Amino acid sequence: MTKRNLIPLIIGCTIGCTITIMTTNCTSSTTNKDGGAVSGSREFGKTPSGETVELYTLKNAKGVEADISTYGGVLVSLKVPDRAGALGDIVLGFDDFKGYLLPPPYFGALIGRYGNRIAHAKFKLDGTEYKLAKNNGDNSLHGGTRGFDKVIWKAKPVNGQSLELTYLSKDGEEGYPGNLSVTVVYTLTDNNELKIDYTATTDKDTVLNLTNHSYFNLAGQGEGDILAHQLTLNADRYTPVDKGLIPTGELRKVEGTPFDFRQPHTIGERIGSSDGQITLGGGYDHNFILNRSGEGLSLAAKVTEAKSGRVMEVLTTEPAIQFYTGNFLDGTIHGKGGKVYGRRSALCLETQHYPDSPNHPSFPSTELKPGATYHTTTVYRFSTGS
Ligand code: GLA
Repeated sequence: MTKRNLIPLIIGCTIGCTITIMTTNCTSSTTNKDGGAVSGSREFGKTPSGETVELYTLKNAKGVEADISTYGGVLVSLKVPDRAGALGDIVLGFDDFKGYLLPPPYFGALIGRYGNRIAHAKFKLDGTEYKLAKNNGDNSLHGGTRGFDKVIWKAKPVNGQSLELTYLSKDGEEGYPGNLSVTVVYTLTDNNELKIDYTATTDKDTVLNLTNHSYFNLAGQGEGDILAHQLTLNADRYTPVDKGLIPTGELRKVEGTPFDFRQPHTIGERIGSSDGQITLGGGYDHNFILNRSGEGLSLAAKVTEAKSGRVMEVLTTEPAIQFYTGNFLDGTIHGKGGKVYGRRSALCLETQHYPDSPNHPSFPSTELKPGATYHTTTVYRFSTGS
């Protein structure tokens, strides 16, 4: 039986949480033990088939706020303080729900069943070949045509500090086997951490790789590019790709390459390098293998932005992280507040298993079997520096 990251994790918010789940046009209101209110949802919009989409707000004692949509489980906005204490929204997205109905960039969305690419949109499991939608050249990307970013999740506020989202992905959905029951819990702690817990069970052998696809710009969404952001990645190796951005199977050392972020570097410093992998990715669009010691949360990445002083640390139980520099953004998308999202106007740090693992037996397994529970946790921790 495949066991993946079954360690329970307890972080942050142990004492004195005053996290609030708020909404405008509240329909109901409850209170957690520390006084935070839990309210009903406000309508964010309607899908073309007439389903109502709701937007929930989590707010902590320090005023940090996260808006989460039931459509795609999208993190629509995340307001965190700069060094002067001023809140700024640091994720790309749309004010109007309709923006999320347009073709990807997957702003803020939950990604499933399989984060990143599966080569030739097929894989074999237990001797059976499963065919997926080809929505990225010859490959399948981020769960297919209607991935978890495009479904409506059932939402339930929990303990006055979290929002629980659930979704049942039926056997055969987007070509994947098994009825898959998925729960994602967003928690905002008083330590300014946004924690995302992913849990899933299946009734048939299947493969699974869940993540969140937030686009961060610590200077504020729409405030220019991220080339001056400083990045540290706790990774000695990465998985080089072919021209379709599918891992070749090689695990390559970062040492001596533009992929070496073991010490902080600005993102722009080597993004124009003639390294063949940078050329293939059009910048950084690669899976980094995290240096881990055992299971549990460990620090994967740290990003700092000098002007605002904002710092983001990413901790995860996952074995890898996709670092993507928004190379496909081209200025055609106008997002929140009418901001133009140009090339490299944000970065993604998608915690995950390796892309195309179902076709690479040497990669850590992404199989989930009946009776086992998939559980992974990722924490985005915010602070400010000098
Ligand atoms: C991931 C991929 C990128 C791109 C974005 C979405 O990060 O690795 O190549 O497809 O998603 O645009």
